[in-house]
Amino acid sequence: MKKRAWAEPFKIKMVEPLRMTTREEREQAIVAAGFNTFLLHSRDVYIDLLTDSGTSAMSDRQWAGLMLGDEAYAGSVNFYHLQEAIQEFYGYQYIIPTHQGRGAEHILSQLLIREGDYVPGNMYFTTTKLHQELAGGTFVDVIVDQAHDPDSEFPFKGNVDLDKLQALIDRVGAKHIPYLSLETNVNMAGGQPCSLANIRDTSELCHKHGIRVFLDATRAVENAYFIKQREVGYESATIADILREICSHTDGCTMSAKKDCLVNIGGWLAVNDEDLAAQARNKVVIYEGLHTYGGLAGRDMEAMAIGIRESVVYEHIRARVGQVEYLGQRLIDAGIPVVHPIGGHGVFIQAAKFLPHISREAFPAQALSAALYVESGVRAMERGAVSAGRDHATGENIYPKLELVRLTIPRRVYTQAHMDVTAESVEELYENRDRVVGLRFIYEPQYLRFFQSRFEPIEGNRVLND
Ligand code: F0G
Repeated sequence: MKKRAWAEPFKIKMVEPLRMTTREEREQAIVAAGFNTFLLHSRDVYIDLLTDSGTSAMSDRQWAGLMLGDEAYAGSVNFYHLQEAIQEFYGYQYIIPTHQGRGAEHILSQLLIREGDYVPGNMYFTTTKLHQELAGGTFVDVIVDQAHDPDSEFPFKGNVDLDKLQALIDRVGAKHIPYLSLETNVNMAGGQPCSLANIRDTSELCHKHGIRVFLDATRAVENAYFIKQREVGYESATIADILREICSHTDGCTMSAKKDCLVNIGGWLAVNDEDLAAQARNKVVIYEGLHTYGGLAGRDMEAMAIGIRESVVYEHIRARVGQVEYLGQRLIDAGIPVVHPIGGHGVFIQAAKFLPHISREAFPAQALSAALYVESGVRAMERGAVSAGRDHATGENIYPKLELVRLTIPRRVYTQAHMDVTAESVEELYENRDRVVGLRFIYEPQYLRFFQSRFEPIEGNRVLND
Protein backbone atom coordinates (compact mmCIF):
# COMPACT_ATOMS: atom_id res chain seq x y z
CA MET A 1 0.00 0.00 0.00
CA LYS A 2 1.20 3.50 -0.77
CA LYS A 3 2.38 5.34 2.34
CA ARG A 4 0.19 8.32 3.22
CA ALA A 5 1.15 11.56 4.98
CA TRP A 6 -0.13 11.94 8.52
CA ALA A 7 -2.55 14.71 9.49
CA GLU A 8 -3.79 16.33 12.67
CA PRO A 9 -5.91 13.84 14.65
CA PHE A 10 -8.77 16.33 15.04
CA LYS A 11 -11.04 18.58 13.03
CA ILE A 12 -11.92 22.17 13.90
CA LYS A 13 -15.25 22.97 15.56
CA MET A 14 -14.81 26.61 16.59
CA VAL A 15 -12.64 29.29 15.06
CA GLU A 16 -11.11 32.52 16.35
CA PRO A 17 -10.60 35.19 13.67
CA LEU A 18 -7.09 36.57 13.17
CA ARG A 19 -6.45 40.23 12.51
CA MET A 20 -4.01 41.34 9.83
CA THR A 21 -2.27 44.65 10.40
CA THR A 22 -0.47 47.03 8.08
CA ARG A 23 3.26 47.57 8.21
CA GLU A 24 2.62 51.10 9.46
CA GLU A 25 0.45 49.85 12.35
CA ARG A 26 3.13 47.37 13.33
CA GLU A 27 5.87 50.02 13.22
CA GLN A 28 3.85 52.04 15.74
CA ALA A 29 2.96 49.03 17.87
CA ILE A 30 6.59 47.90 18.27
CA VAL A 31 7.69 51.40 19.31
CA ALA A 32 4.86 51.55 21.87
CA ALA A 33 6.02 48.12 23.10
CA GLY A 34 9.61 49.32 23.61
CA PHE A 35 10.77 46.80 20.94
CA ASN A 36 9.80 43.97 23.30
CA THR A 37 7.34 41.46 21.84
CA PHE A 38 6.06 40.70 25.37
CA LEU A 39 4.69 44.23 25.54
CA LEU A 40 2.66 44.05 22.32
CA HIS A 41 -1.11 43.88 22.55
CA SER A 42 -2.19 40.50 21.21
CA ARG A 43 -4.80 42.13 18.98
CA ASP A 44 -1.91 43.61 17.01
CA VAL A 45 -0.39 40.16 16.41
CA TYR A 46 -1.20 38.04 13.35
CA ILE A 47 0.40 34.65 14.08
CA ASP A 48 1.33 34.39 17.76
CA LEU A 49 4.39 32.21 18.32
CA LEU A 50 5.46 33.95 21.54
CA THR A 51 5.00 30.82 23.62
CA ASP A 52 3.42 27.41 23.85
CA SER A 53 2.45 28.23 27.44
CA GLY A 54 -1.27 28.41 28.15
CA THR A 55 -1.95 28.89 24.45
CA SER A 56 -3.26 25.40 23.59
CA ALA A 57 -6.67 24.78 22.06
CA MET A 58 -8.74 22.61 24.36
CA SER A 59 -10.74 19.66 23.05
CA ASP A 60 -14.54 19.40 23.10
CA ARG A 61 -14.11 16.98 26.06
CA GLN A 62 -12.14 19.54 27.99
CA TRP A 63 -14.71 22.26 27.32
CA ALA A 64 -17.40 19.85 28.49
CA GLY A 65 -15.27 19.23 31.57
CA LEU A 66 -15.37 22.94 32.40
CA MET A 67 -19.11 22.60 32.89
CA LEU A 68 -18.47 19.96 35.52
CA GLY A 69 -16.47 22.34 37.69
CA ASP A 70 -17.13 21.71 41.37
CA GLU A 71 -16.32 25.10 42.83
CA ALA A 72 -16.31 24.01 46.45
CA TYR A 73 -13.64 25.76 48.49
CA ALA A 74 -12.45 22.45 49.91
CA GLY A 75 -12.36 18.91 48.55
CA SER A 76 -13.58 19.64 45.01
CA VAL A 77 -14.30 16.46 43.05
CA ASN A 78 -12.15 17.90 40.23
CA PHE A 79 -9.09 17.88 42.49
CA TYR A 80 -9.54 14.15 42.98
CA HIS A 81 -9.89 13.61 39.24
CA LEU A 82 -6.67 15.56 38.71
CA GLN A 83 -4.89 13.62 41.43
CA GLU A 84 -5.96 10.32 39.87
CA ALA A 85 -4.73 11.39 36.42
CA ILE A 86 -1.34 12.49 37.74
CA GLN A 87 -0.95 9.33 39.83
CA GLU A 88 -1.87 7.18 36.84
CA PHE A 89 0.26 8.85 34.15
CA TYR A 90 3.14 10.43 36.09
CA GLY A 91 3.16 7.92 38.93
CA TYR A 92 3.80 10.30 41.85
CA GLN A 93 2.00 9.83 45.13
CA TYR A 94 1.23 13.24 46.63
CA ILE A 95 -0.10 16.11 44.51
CA ILE A 96 -0.22 19.79 45.43
CA PRO A 97 -1.94 21.94 42.79
CA THR A 98 -0.55 25.42 42.06
CA HIS A 99 -1.68 28.27 39.84
CA GLN A 100 1.14 27.50 37.37
CA GLY A 101 4.65 26.09 37.21
CA ARG A 102 6.47 28.86 39.05
CA GLY A 103 4.10 28.46 42.01
CA ALA A 104 5.37 24.90 42.39
CA GLU A 105 9.00 26.03 41.88
CA HIS A 106 8.58 28.60 44.63
CA ILE A 107 7.31 26.06 47.15
CA LEU A 108 9.93 23.41 46.32
CA SER A 109 12.81 25.92 46.41
CA GLN A 110 11.70 27.42 49.72
CA LEU A 111 11.32 24.00 51.32
CA LEU A 112 14.58 22.39 50.25
CA ILE A 113 17.22 25.05 49.53
CA ARG A 114 19.30 26.63 52.31
CA GLU A 115 21.53 29.71 52.03
CA GLY A 116 24.79 28.68 50.35
CA ASP A 117 23.41 25.53 48.69
CA TYR A 118 24.05 24.57 45.05
CA VAL A 119 21.37 23.31 42.69
CA PRO A 120 22.66 21.54 39.59
CA GLY A 121 20.44 21.43 36.54
CA ASN A 122 20.53 20.57 32.83
CA MET A 123 20.61 24.19 31.66
CA TYR A 124 18.78 26.97 33.44
CA PHE A 125 15.20 27.98 33.02
CA THR A 126 14.43 31.61 33.90
CA THR A 127 11.80 31.19 36.64
CA THR A 128 13.30 27.98 38.03
CA LYS A 129 16.73 29.55 38.50
CA LEU A 130 15.31 32.73 40.01
CA HIS A 131 13.35 30.77 42.64
CA GLN A 132 16.48 28.78 43.48
CA GLU A 133 18.43 32.03 43.92
CA LEU A 134 15.72 33.73 45.97
CA ALA A 135 15.87 30.73 48.33
CA GLY A 136 19.65 31.28 48.79
CA GLY A 137 20.91 28.74 46.26
CA THR A 138 23.30 28.93 43.32
CA PHE A 139 22.36 27.25 40.06
CA VAL A 140 25.08 25.17 38.40
CA ASP A 141 24.72 24.08 34.77
CA VAL A 142 25.60 20.40 34.31
CA ILE A 143 24.16 19.82 30.86
CA VAL A 144 26.28 18.10 28.16
CA ASP A 145 28.46 20.45 26.07
CA GLN A 146 26.56 19.58 22.89
CA ALA A 147 23.54 21.50 24.28
CA HIS A 148 25.49 24.75 23.94
CA ASP A 149 26.38 24.02 20.31
CA PRO A 150 23.38 24.87 18.11
CA ASP A 151 24.80 22.96 15.14
CA SER A 152 25.44 19.68 16.97
CA GLU A 153 23.05 16.94 15.79
CA PHE A 154 23.41 14.98 19.04
CA PRO A 155 19.98 13.39 19.58
CA PHE A 156 19.86 13.89 23.38
CA LYS A 157 21.19 17.38 23.96
CA GLY A 158 19.17 17.59 27.19
CA ASN A 159 21.39 14.97 28.88
CA VAL A 160 23.22 15.62 32.12
CA ASP A 161 27.01 15.42 31.89
CA LEU A 162 27.79 13.02 34.72
CA ASP A 163 31.41 14.21 34.95
CA LYS A 164 30.26 17.79 35.51
CA LEU A 165 27.83 16.56 38.16
CA GLN A 166 30.50 14.45 39.89
CA ALA A 167 32.91 17.41 39.81
CA LEU A 168 30.32 19.60 41.55
CA ILE A 169 29.69 16.95 44.21
CA ASP A 170 33.46 16.66 44.80
CA ARG A 171 33.86 20.45 44.95
CA VAL A 172 31.00 21.48 47.27
CA GLY A 173 29.98 18.21 48.95
CA ALA A 174 26.69 16.36 48.58
CA LYS A 175 25.28 17.89 51.75
CA HIS A 176 25.24 21.30 50.05
CA ILE A 177 23.25 19.94 47.11
CA PRO A 178 19.60 19.56 48.20
CA TYR A 179 18.49 18.25 44.82
CA LEU A 180 19.21 18.13 41.11
CA SER A 181 16.70 19.86 38.90
CA LEU A 182 16.17 17.73 35.80
CA GLU A 183 14.29 19.31 32.93
CA THR A 184 12.79 17.16 30.22
CA ASN A 185 12.90 18.54 26.67
CA VAL A 186 15.14 21.37 27.74
CA ASN A 187 13.50 24.64 26.77
CA MET A 188 16.51 26.98 26.66
CA ALA A 189 18.56 24.45 24.67
CA GLY A 190 15.90 24.46 21.95
CA GLY A 191 13.40 21.88 23.18
CA GLN A 192 16.00 19.09 23.39
CA PRO A 193 15.32 15.73 25.08
CA CYS A 194 17.15 13.60 27.63
CA SER A 195 17.57 9.88 27.03
CA LEU A 196 16.13 7.42 29.50
CA ALA A 197 19.58 5.91 29.95
CA ASN A 198 20.89 9.30 31.03
CA ILE A 199 17.94 9.96 33.35
CA ARG A 200 18.56 6.56 34.97
CA ASP A 201 22.32 7.14 35.36
CA THR A 202 21.87 10.69 36.65
CA SER A 203 19.41 9.65 39.28
CA GLU A 204 21.59 6.70 40.30
CA LEU A 205 24.56 8.99 40.83
CA CYS A 206 22.47 11.51 42.78
CA HIS A 207 20.76 8.92 44.96
CA LYS A 208 24.09 7.26 45.74
CA HIS A 209 25.10 10.57 47.34
CA GLY A 210 21.75 11.18 49.03
CA ILE A 211 20.83 13.95 46.56
CA ARG A 212 17.22 14.05 45.45
CA VAL A 213 16.14 14.46 41.84
CA PHE A 214 13.21 16.69 40.96
CA LEU A 215 11.89 16.66 37.45
CA ASP A 216 10.69 19.75 35.65
CA ALA A 217 7.99 17.75 33.88
CA THR A 218 6.67 20.68 31.85
CA ARG A 219 7.42 19.03 28.50
CA ALA A 220 8.02 15.42 29.62
CA VAL A 221 5.48 14.05 27.12
CA GLU A 222 7.37 15.65 24.24
CA ASN A 223 10.56 14.14 25.67
CA ALA A 224 8.86 10.73 25.82
CA TYR A 225 8.01 11.03 22.12
CA PHE A 226 11.66 11.69 21.23
CA ILE A 227 12.75 8.71 23.33
CA LYS A 228 10.36 6.52 21.36
CA GLN A 229 11.77 7.92 18.09
CA ARG A 230 15.45 7.88 18.98
CA GLU A 231 16.39 5.57 21.86
CA VAL A 232 17.17 1.93 21.17
CA GLY A 233 14.79 -0.36 23.02
CA TYR A 234 11.83 2.04 23.19
CA GLU A 235 10.56 1.82 19.59
CA SER A 236 7.47 -0.13 20.57
CA ALA A 237 6.88 1.30 24.05
CA THR A 238 3.84 3.55 24.49
CA ILE A 239 4.20 7.24 25.32
CA ALA A 240 2.44 6.56 28.63
CA ASP A 241 4.92 3.80 29.52
CA ILE A 242 7.91 6.00 28.72
CA LEU A 243 6.47 8.91 30.70
CA ARG A 244 5.96 6.68 33.74
CA GLU A 245 9.49 5.35 33.42
CA ILE A 246 10.98 8.87 33.26
CA CYS A 247 9.15 9.88 36.41
CA SER A 248 9.95 6.64 38.21
CA HIS A 249 13.62 7.66 38.46
CA THR A 250 12.82 10.92 40.25
CA ASP A 251 11.57 11.96 43.68
CA GLY A 252 8.90 14.33 42.44
CA CYS A 253 8.27 17.07 39.93
CA THR A 254 7.26 20.63 39.35
CA MET A 255 4.86 21.09 36.48
CA SER A 256 3.69 23.93 34.31
CA ALA A 257 0.50 22.28 33.07
CA LYS A 258 0.10 25.14 30.58
CA LYS A 259 2.24 23.15 28.13
CA ASP A 260 1.96 19.36 27.79
CA CYS A 261 -1.31 19.15 29.73
CA LEU A 262 -3.21 21.14 27.09
CA VAL A 263 -4.76 23.74 29.40
CA ASN A 264 -4.64 27.52 29.58
CA ILE A 265 -3.67 27.73 33.26
CA GLY A 266 -2.47 25.42 36.01
CA GLY A 267 0.42 23.55 37.52
CA TRP A 268 1.38 21.26 40.34
CA LEU A 269 4.05 19.99 42.66
CA ALA A 270 4.22 16.21 43.05
CA VAL A 271 6.34 14.34 45.60
CA ASN A 272 6.68 10.81 46.89
CA ASP A 273 7.91 11.75 50.37
CA GLU A 274 5.04 12.04 52.83
CA ASP A 275 6.77 14.56 55.14
CA LEU A 276 7.74 16.79 52.25
CA ALA A 277 4.14 16.62 50.98
CA ALA A 278 2.88 17.77 54.39
CA GLN A 279 5.34 20.69 54.37
CA ALA A 280 4.33 21.63 50.84
CA ARG A 281 0.63 21.57 51.76
CA ASN A 282 1.51 23.88 54.62
CA LYS A 283 3.24 26.31 52.25
CA VAL A 284 0.64 26.19 49.48
CA VAL A 285 -2.01 27.71 51.74
CA ILE A 286 0.17 30.81 52.20
CA TYR A 287 0.90 31.56 48.56
CA GLU A 288 -1.56 29.73 46.30
CA GLY A 289 -4.71 28.58 48.08
CA LEU A 290 -6.03 25.52 49.89
CA HIS A 291 -4.22 22.25 49.07
CA THR A 292 -7.19 20.98 47.03
CA TYR A 293 -7.24 23.91 44.62
CA GLY A 294 -3.89 25.75 44.76
CA GLY A 295 -5.10 28.91 43.02
CA LEU A 296 -7.18 27.10 40.40
CA ALA A 297 -10.90 26.89 39.81
CA GLY A 298 -12.44 23.42 40.00
CA ARG A 299 -13.17 23.59 36.28
CA ASP A 300 -9.48 24.27 35.51
CA MET A 301 -8.50 21.10 37.37
CA GLU A 302 -11.10 19.08 35.45
CA ALA A 303 -9.81 20.37 32.10
CA MET A 304 -6.28 19.49 33.22
CA ALA A 305 -7.22 15.94 34.23
CA ILE A 306 -8.75 15.39 30.79
CA GLY A 307 -5.81 17.12 29.06
CA ILE A 308 -3.32 14.77 30.75
CA ARG A 309 -5.14 11.75 29.29
CA GLU A 310 -5.23 13.33 25.82
CA SER A 311 -1.58 14.37 25.95
CA VAL A 312 -0.17 10.84 25.99
CA VAL A 313 -2.10 9.64 22.93
CA TYR A 314 0.47 8.81 20.27
CA GLU A 315 -1.39 10.45 17.37
CA HIS A 316 -1.61 13.71 19.34
CA ILE A 317 2.06 13.97 20.21
CA ARG A 318 3.20 12.82 16.78
CA ALA A 319 1.16 15.57 15.12
CA ARG A 320 2.30 18.17 17.67
CA VAL A 321 6.02 17.52 17.25
CA GLY A 322 5.49 16.81 13.54
CA GLN A 323 4.15 20.31 12.98
CA VAL A 324 7.18 21.86 14.70
CA GLU A 325 9.49 19.69 12.58
CA TYR A 326 7.63 20.74 9.43
CA LEU A 327 8.32 24.42 10.12
CA GLY A 328 11.90 23.65 11.12
CA GLN A 329 12.59 21.69 7.95
CA ARG A 330 11.21 24.51 5.80
CA LEU A 331 13.61 26.96 7.45
CA ILE A 332 16.54 24.55 7.12
CA ASP A 333 15.74 24.09 3.42
CA ALA A 334 15.80 27.88 2.99
CA GLY A 335 19.26 28.07 4.57
CA ILE A 336 18.13 29.82 7.78
CA PRO A 337 20.46 29.09 10.73
CA VAL A 338 18.35 27.24 13.33
CA VAL A 339 19.14 25.03 16.30
CA HIS A 340 19.62 21.37 15.35
CA PRO A 341 17.94 18.96 15.79
CA ILE A 342 14.53 20.67 15.59
CA GLY A 343 13.03 20.68 19.10
CA GLY A 344 9.69 19.60 20.46
CA HIS A 345 7.89 22.89 21.08
CA GLY A 346 9.46 25.38 18.76
CA VAL A 347 12.00 26.27 16.13
CA PHE A 348 14.90 28.30 17.49
CA ILE A 349 16.68 30.69 15.12
CA GLN A 350 20.38 31.38 15.71
CA ALA A 351 20.07 35.15 15.87
CA ALA A 352 23.77 36.04 16.08
CA LYS A 353 24.39 34.03 12.91
CA PHE A 354 21.29 35.47 11.21
CA LEU A 355 22.44 39.04 12.03
CA PRO A 356 26.25 38.92 12.01
CA HIS A 357 26.46 42.72 11.76
CA ILE A 358 24.83 43.17 15.21
CA SER A 359 27.18 42.69 18.18
CA ARG A 360 26.08 40.65 21.18
CA GLU A 361 25.97 43.91 23.21
CA ALA A 362 23.19 45.14 20.88
CA PHE A 363 21.07 42.02 21.48
CA PRO A 364 20.63 40.43 18.03
CA ALA A 365 17.85 38.07 19.21
CA GLN A 366 15.82 40.92 20.71
CA ALA A 367 16.27 42.92 17.50
CA LEU A 368 15.38 39.94 15.32
CA SER A 369 12.13 39.21 17.15
CA ALA A 370 11.12 42.89 16.93
CA ALA A 371 12.03 43.05 13.23
CA LEU A 372 10.15 39.84 12.43
CA TYR A 373 7.05 41.35 14.00
CA VAL A 374 7.40 44.54 11.93
CA GLU A 375 8.02 42.53 8.77
CA SER A 376 5.14 40.08 9.12
CA GLY A 377 3.01 40.38 12.28
CA VAL A 378 4.48 37.07 13.50
CA ARG A 379 5.33 37.31 17.20
CA ALA A 380 8.36 35.36 18.48
CA MET A 381 10.41 35.54 21.70
CA GLU A 382 14.01 36.39 22.56
CA ARG A 383 15.95 33.57 24.23
CA GLY A 384 19.46 34.89 24.60
CA ALA A 385 21.32 37.51 26.62
CA VAL A 386 18.22 39.48 27.59
CA SER A 387 16.63 36.32 29.03
CA ALA A 388 19.89 35.33 30.75
CA GLY A 389 20.02 38.56 32.80
CA ARG A 390 23.00 39.78 34.80
CA ASP A 391 25.66 38.08 36.87
CA HIS A 392 24.77 38.72 40.50
CA ALA A 393 28.36 39.13 41.63
CA THR A 394 29.61 41.48 38.89
CA GLY A 395 26.39 43.09 37.65
CA GLU A 396 27.55 42.44 34.07
CA ASN A 397 25.29 41.06 31.34
CA ILE A 398 25.57 37.30 30.86
CA TYR A 399 26.11 36.35 27.21
CA PRO A 400 25.12 32.68 26.83
CA LYS A 401 26.49 30.75 23.85
CA LEU A 402 22.94 30.44 22.57
CA GLU A 403 21.51 33.74 21.31
CA LEU A 404 18.17 32.56 19.96
CA VAL A 405 14.76 33.64 18.74
CA ARG A 406 12.08 31.09 19.55
CA LEU A 407 9.20 30.47 17.17
CA THR A 408 7.05 28.57 19.65
CA ILE A 409 4.15 26.54 18.34
CA PRO A 410 0.96 26.47 20.43
CA ARG A 411 -0.63 23.01 20.60
CA ARG A 412 -3.55 22.26 18.25
CA VAL A 413 -3.95 25.95 17.29
CA TYR A 414 -2.38 26.75 13.92
CA THR A 415 -2.49 24.97 10.57
CA GLN A 416 0.23 23.97 8.15
CA ALA A 417 -0.65 27.08 6.09
CA HIS A 418 0.25 29.24 9.11
CA MET A 419 3.57 27.43 9.28
CA ASP A 420 4.12 28.19 5.58
CA VAL A 421 3.39 31.90 6.07
CA THR A 422 5.72 31.96 9.07
CA ALA A 423 8.50 30.33 7.07
CA GLU A 424 8.01 32.78 4.19
CA SER A 425 8.14 35.71 6.64
CA VAL A 426 11.42 34.52 8.17
CA GLU A 427 12.86 33.87 4.70
CA GLU A 428 11.96 37.36 3.52
CA LEU A 429 13.53 38.91 6.59
CA TYR A 430 16.63 36.81 6.01
CA GLU A 431 16.99 38.30 2.54
CA ASN A 432 16.79 41.78 4.08
CA ARG A 433 18.76 40.99 7.24
CA ASP A 434 21.29 43.79 6.79
CA ARG A 435 18.46 46.30 7.36
CA VAL A 436 17.89 45.12 10.98
CA VAL A 437 19.26 47.48 13.66
CA GLY A 438 20.56 46.48 17.13
CA LEU A 439 18.93 47.62 20.39
CA ARG A 440 19.90 49.00 23.80
CA PHE A 441 18.03 49.05 27.10
CA ILE A 442 16.05 52.07 28.18
CA TYR A 443 14.28 50.28 31.06
CA GLU A 444 15.40 47.13 32.82
CA PRO A 445 13.44 45.58 35.71
CA GLN A 446 15.26 43.65 38.43
CA TYR A 447 13.70 40.21 37.99
CA LEU A 448 13.04 38.22 34.78
CA ARG A 449 13.90 41.32 32.78
CA PHE A 450 12.92 39.88 29.39
CA PHE A 451 9.23 40.15 30.25
CA GLN A 452 9.08 43.90 30.84
CA SER A 453 12.28 45.55 29.54
CA ARG A 454 12.08 48.38 27.05
CA PHE A 455 14.60 49.14 24.31
CA GLU A 456 15.48 51.65 21.62
CA PRO A 457 17.45 51.19 18.39
CA ILE A 458 21.17 51.97 18.75
CA GLU A 459 20.85 54.25 15.72
CA GLY A 460 17.82 55.91 14.14
CA ASN A 461 14.39 55.09 15.48
CA ARG A 462 13.49 51.88 13.64
CA VAL A 463 14.47 48.25 14.15
CA LEU A 464 13.96 47.45 10.44
CA ASN A 465 14.98 50.06 7.88
CA ASP A 466 13.55 50.22 4.34
N1 F0G B 1 9.76 25.25 33.50
C1 F0G B 1 9.85 25.33 32.16
C2 F0G B 1 10.74 24.39 31.43
C3 F0G B 1 9.09 26.29 31.47
O1 F0G B 1 9.20 26.35 30.13
C4 F0G B 1 8.27 27.17 32.18
C5 F0G B 1 7.52 28.21 31.50
C6 F0G B 1 8.21 27.06 33.58
C7 F0G B 1 8.97 26.08 34.20
C8 F0G B 1 7.39 27.99 34.41
O2 F0G B 1 6.06 27.66 34.32
O3 F0G B 1 5.08 29.69 33.23
O4 F0G B 1 3.65 27.94 34.30
O5 F0G B 1 5.01 29.46 35.69
N2 F0G B 1 7.75 28.56 30.31
C9 F0G B 1 7.05 29.54 29.51
C10 F0G B 1 7.71 29.67 28.18
C11 F0G B 1 6.84 30.83 30.19
O6 F0G B 1 7.26 30.51 27.38
O7 F0G B 1 8.66 28.94 27.88
P1 F0G B 1 4.89 28.77 34.39
